Amino acid sequence: MFFPVYCLLSTVFSLLIFAKKIPIHHSTIPFHVSFNFYYSATLPCGKGPGFFARNSLLELRIETDIIEKMIYLDNAATSYPKPEAVYKRIEHILRHIGGNPGRSGHRMAMDASRVVFEARESAARLFNIKNAERIAFTKNVTEAINTALKGILRPGDHVVTTSIEHNAVVKPLKRLEKEGVMVSWVKADKNGWLRPEDIERAITKETKVVTVVHASNVFGAILPAEEIGRICRKKDVLFMIDAAQTAGAMPIDVEALNIDILCATGHKSLFGPQGTGFFYVTEGIEPMPLIDGGTGEDDETMEMPDSLEAGTMNTPGIGGLGAGIEFLLKEAVEKIRKYEEGIIRQIIEDLSGIKEIKILGSLDEKKRTCLVSFTIEGKEPSELGCRLDNEFGIMTRCGLHCAPHAHRTAGTYPSGAIRVSPGYFNTEKEIEEFLKAVREIAQ
Ligand SMILES: Cc1ncc(COP(=O)(O)O)c(C=O)c1O
Repeated sequence: MFFPVYCLLSTVFSLLIFAKKIPIHHSTIPFHVSFNFYYSATLPCGKGPGFFARNSLLELRIETDIIEKMIYLDNAATSYPKPEAVYKRIEHILRHIGGNPGRSGHRMAMDASRVVFEARESAARLFNIKNAERIAFTKNVTEAINTALKGILRPGDHVVTTSIEHNAVVKPLKRLEKEGVMVSWVKADKNGWLRPEDIERAITKETKVVTVVHASNVFGAILPAEEIGRICRKKDVLFMIDAAQTAGAMPIDVEALNIDILCATGHKSLFGPQGTGFFYVTEGIEPMPLIDGGTGEDDETMEMPDSLEAGTMNTPGIGGLGAGIEFLLKEAVEKIRKYEEGIIRQIIEDLSGIKEIKILGSLDEKKRTCLVSFTIEGKEPSELGCRLDNEFGIMTRCGLHCAPHAHRTAGTYPSGAIRVSPGYFNTEKEIEEFLKAVREIAQ
């Protein structure tokens, strides 16, 4: 009895949505979502009745203009929106520069090579890398980190890292540990703070690499890269940083910080599209590639970057990343950092006044990147994330943030926390709306 009635109701509801008789608004979203979720859940898998089977909230948003009413505060996961020049560059490359870089000799292939060359040069300029050829493009920072660690470390080598690393570092190191690489996990305190002297103490005769996250994606804590770099230089070990959360968000000078290996992702603060990243490796170190194949060069004489870029490259993506980096060079990273520090101060000042809320990490905005993770007493982070999205149109990220070890360090494992990560394109008013929503939920 219930099912036929439900089918009838759902059909009427779907028709009303399509006829735009039921407004799609923040306040009605929970209804739309639960309706669509239940409706599609009752259908045989993958056999929805055509356009009636709406599977996701995203589809609803795309079909309507509701996306304009959303507040995106999940830039630590991936930045949105991108500078206009990034969209334009990608479209231009796809439409007008269709050749394969480094392969054929015709004008379109040459233009494609120029796109990659210019993006490499821009990246070198942003991070004060003297020789741009020491930068290899990858599909994200995970691939960069994997190639660096697996391409350099051998059984018997020792590596020093921290207790707050992202899985992009933890997982390759766990695999290498099984293959005979020795790993020391230096403990950060419960605020994500790491003492450089603890890193120094962990270095042994066998240590080849010290790898640390530049800023934690859970605490936001910026680690003392300068001091660690100095220690590594003194001890003659390679210093590697995972700059996923800092590249483009704060100035990084590989020379001044003594960085030998810099791993960055393209789609966060560098404003490139997803599917882009790169790593810089100092002269004299040639990591073994994870992937072998054609590069358009004589394979016998392969050096960086060709040795680490086998196969056709993501030219539109790399061009988009180049446009993102050019935007940063023009706008100045220092200016962006200052703006983001102001936003973080606003969030911390407000949230620290709510007694049910516990903020992870330091309350000093100068010591953190543009993200704040927090918990609300008696509430599950996943519930908070859903409520912010469904009731207020505010997008954040909840859970473990691919960094369970960092949450163990913070004492927030296994539920994790909710993380708000604004960006350069967020306004003060949007942050106020977010804070108002959190206050309402916390009460
Ligand atoms: C600190 C850190 N490392 C690594 C990653 C992995 O980035 P990607 O998925 O772009 O490889 C992230 C992404 O959130 C991160 O925050």
